[in-house]
Amino acid sequence: MQIDDQHIQSIWYDMETDSVNIIDQTRLPHEFKIVALQNLHDACHAITKMQVRGAPLIGVTAAYGLYLALRKDPASLDEAIKDLSATRTTAVNLRWALQRVEQVLLSTTLNQRAAKALETAQLIEKEDIAICQSIGDYGAPILKSLWRAKDSSQSIVNVLTHCNAGALATVDSGTALSVVYQAVSAGIPVHVWVDETRPRNQGAALTCWELGQHDIPHTLIVDNAGGHLMQQGDIDVVLVGSDRTTLDGDVCNKIGTYLKALAASDNNVPFYAALPVSSFDFSVDSDVIPIEQRAAEEVSHITGIDEAGLFRQVRIAPRDVAISNYGFDITPARLVTGLITELGVFEANRDSLKQLLKRP
Ligand code: MRU
Repeated sequence: MQIDDQHIQSIWYDMETDSVNIIDQTRLPHEFKIVALQNLHDACHAITKMQVRGAPLIGVTAAYGLYLALRKDPASLDEAIKDLSATRTTAVNLRWALQRVEQVLLSTTLNQRAAKALETAQLIEKEDIAICQSIGDYGAPILKSLWRAKDSSQSIVNVLTHCNAGALATVDSGTALSVVYQAVSAGIPVHVWVDETRPRNQGAALTCWELGQHDIPHTLIVDNAGGHLMQQGDIDVVLVGSDRTTLDGDVCNKIGTYLKALAASDNNVPFYAALPVSSFDFSVDSDVIPIEQRAAEEVSHITGIDEAGLFRQVRIAPRDVAISNYGFDITPARLVTGLITELGVFEANRDSLKQLLKRP
């Protein structure tokens, strides 16, 4: 991603210091801070505290976490997988990445483990960049045809997005936002409506920051505004990411995504999810996807900076109020126009998605 005219990834391995660097996303948009992960605890902490977040980036961080654990103790593989698996539960890329590294390590000796884990994590990192690029390549023509279908070639394609499915949720460029970036590079004028995405405000804090860095026109809205904007004809397409999608095409994504899909369906607005194939889970139906229930403080409090630039957390709900805080919801396949992947755009149904099962 571009930051102040510099290209930077959300995660990278620094050979000189033998550490894994991340952007601390809990400080954005107020402070750009790079944190070096030195051990398994740092990696688990980064995922749990959401210094890194977004399904693909969680997966890459977990792969590097295994390297950091094995560097210290090559016999700690099972323990490290257990610790990393427990950090977040909904995004399937975490499990996918851990299994992929584990698979490679099956054929290595104990003293080769760390080097092999590092090599695999670096490979996953590299692949994620290419995958996101390809998602953008397949998705951009959708925005192009929406643009062409508009009254005047001068008009803008209005995208609504939820949460952050951008460069910050992946190694680079993102899933849903990769589609936007590729469309803009192809000369299609795009404006993005950004849902603030309570309670963690990934839209307000991260997506707006990221789009600003890329000079993409965008407007921040409250989570409840999308339906109204659709009724007014101000949204041409909804583009979101996914933390886990089933063989039937049900899309699990940040809480509130389902309501956007319902409103989109009622207003004939196309609804697409953009995701890497590693975010599919063909082993479960959507009713058994584990939905994270998160800390009550995310709802009862809000975090930001004050006029002096100091980080503050303030309470916005009465003390001791009962709080429910589900992190994700399921958008049923019938509300999904298409699934944009690195292998093409698929219909959200078993017949279409089973082509992915046939891959080598
Ligand atoms: O809780 P988060 O911030 O990790 O949730 C992220 C999302 O829901 C994204 O939309 C999803 O991971 C897709 S990101 C490419």
